[in-house]
Amino acid sequence: MTKKDKIIIFDTTLRDGEQSPGATMNMNEKILIAQTLDKMGVDIIEAGFAIASKGDFEAVNEVAKVVKDAVVCSLARAKRPDIDAASEAIKTAKNGRIHTFISTSEIHLKYQIKMTEEEVLEAIRDSVSYSRNLCGDVEWSGMDATRTRDDFLCKAVETAINAGATTINLPDTVGYTTPTEYAELIQMVRNRVPNIDKAIISVHCHDDLGLAVANSLAAIGAGARQIECTINGLGERAGNTALEEIVMAIKTRNDALPYETNIDSTQIIRASKLVSTITGFVVQNNKAIVGSNAFAHESGIHQDGMLKNASTYEIMTPESVGLHKSELVMGKHSGRHAFKKKLEELGFNLGDNVFAQAFADFKDLADKKKEIYDEDIIALLDNNAIKVVEAIELESLQIICGSDGKPQSNLELNIKGRVEKAETTGDGPVDALFNGIKKLVPHGAKLELYQVHAVTGGTDAQAEVTVRLNNDGRIVTGNSRNTDTLVASALAYLAAVNKIGGLKE
Ligand code: KIV
Ligand code: ZN
Repeated sequence: MTKKDKIIIFDTTLRDGEQSPGATMNMNEKILIAQTLDKMGVDIIEAGFAIASKGDFEAVNEVAKVVKDAVVCSLARAKRPDIDAASEAIKTAKNGRIHTFISTSEIHLKYQIKMTEEEVLEAIRDSVSYSRNLCGDVEWSGMDATRTRDDFLCKAVETAINAGATTINLPDTVGYTTPTEYAELIQMVRNRVPNIDKAIISVHCHDDLGLAVANSLAAIGAGARQIECTINGLGERAGNTALEEIVMAIKTRNDALPYETNIDSTQIIRASKLVSTITGFVVQNNKAIVGSNAFAHESGIHQDGMLKNASTYEIMTPESVGLHKSELVMGKHSGRHAFKKKLEELGFNLGDNVFAQAFADFKDLADKKKEIYDEDIIALLDNNAIKVVEAIELESLQIICGSDGKPQSNLELNIKGRVEKAETTGDGPVDALFNGIKKLVPHGAKLELYQVHAVTGGTDAQAEVTVRLNNDGRIVTGNSRNTDTLVASALAYLAAVNKIGGLKE
């Protein structure tokens, strides 16, 4: 067997993904996602845009501390203060990268950055060489590359490589290109840029026309060797290239796509669920690879074929993406040993303190729910990992509702150590409850999303609730799970309110 070309997987869930309106993540959540990406074998994790805010800077810095194997990268515009912030933020990483970008298309130069081509070339020289003095691994991106004049794009790429860029990214920023056209662009750059052999070509596609994955695969056919992507295809507007689709296309059709990646595909479902839970962005049922129907066979003819031989209608196994049959695992009689074994099976290796907490929570859950499934345990662990000590905590909640009378909520919150009570009514039980929270914690944030879904089947399933609030343009998401939908709703709302911080006293 000949050695296959390696495709470098660059994940930008924490940067481009977080740019989707409503997908804001806090530090804890970013760390948990970064650890998951690291564990699944992602080569480079773009952890954020360090100059964007103090929170972004700290998140990149903390992610850089915990990531063990992947290179940790920060984005920076072609400006020295951006580059200084990126360099400082990734200092804690074992291996760091600065990713600096500037627009190259005529449209962007004329209307957005108002620079001439000469000025852009000068900015590339300065930003890339400045970055290279701070970090040995520098990626340069020509924003809107797919709508850039060929001559100028080649000049810009040559300039970036001469200044020290080790990776050249040619983004389809507006999701405009097509597979054939993109492959031709990559080929053109490889043919015309004299020093192109000194850098790796990277591609970064947006999915506005639903072509991001096809464009990325066409680009590797033409010689690109790094693909920028996100879990669940999260990202600006219609999103980015979906990591899971790239990885499974290469794995499943290795005859047609003879490359290899470092990704352990059995971690895909776990990563997908985590990102979906944290952001509140539900994965559509029929989404390739990670949708809930991706491995479900409904029609009689398909079921008949599957029973005779799975290969009749299944091109990859559910296990290859980490999907296991939802087995009944344990109940309230299961002990520590069985719980530990189950965690190992699910790929969790917890320290003593975290294990003790998880076991106590598992016992609590088993008291409320007879049948505990794998999904319940994963949800419980994610809940604990994301949870931080909050300024406002739920003390107790009683809801009275039914066919007669107005729903009523009796709520007790612990606000910075003081227990406060509210009795409120509303147009429904959730409305009554949220009115209670608003009464005890006055705020102007608008509710943008209230979403409930069941973690498993059955009427005793845990409810997973997501609440998204818009506080003067700052969007925060809170989520929680509980066997009681209203308790989960209260916890999710409080998680979002806590993220807003700065409560009116
Ligand atoms: O879409 C884009 O062009 C980007 C760049 C910053 C790489 O996200
Ligand atoms: Zn992008």
